[in-house]
Amino acid sequence: MRRLTTALCAVAAAVALSGPVAAASQDELIEEGRAVYHDKTRGNCISCHNINDPIANLPGSQGPMMIAMQQRFPDKRKLRAQIWDATVANPLSIMPPIGKHWILSEDEIDAVVEYIYQY
Ligand code: HEC
Repeated sequence: MRRLTTALCAVAAAVALSGPVAAASQDELIEEGRAVYHDKTRGNCISCHNINDPIANLPGSQGPMMIAMQQRFPDKRKLRAQIWDATVANPLSIMPPIGKHWILSEDEIDAVVEYIYQY
């Protein structure tokens, strides 16, 4: 009986770990992107782009609002490329080339993309 209980516990633990872990990592990515987006010492995207998130604090309006991202960027790679280097699409862009100038790491850019892609 004790062995059966141990085995059942192991199965239950495995089931409990497998599902939520995958979901949590996507949630964690979005949370990380959210932190980067609003942090004035990191991405500081909020200083130019408003976004419909209650934590938005003193949003700027030099860039377009982050809205309808999936419709406007059906290809997520194009959205990422825009953030990585806005001067490709607009050589006179005032948006800093976030990836090219190492303002954010590649992982942080991935996280920001996931975050804004929800809006
Ligand atoms: C100094 C202001 C500034 C900052 C900081 C800034 N942007 Fe921009 N961004 C702009 C402007 C202006 C545009 C409009 C296109 C252009 O001029 O290049 C733009 C365009 C964009 C676009 C394309 C939107 C569209 O509707 O086509 C995205 C996506 C974007 N920015 C995301 C970000 C993210 C994410 C960050 C933070 C990591 C960020 N921006 C930081 C000014 C800024």
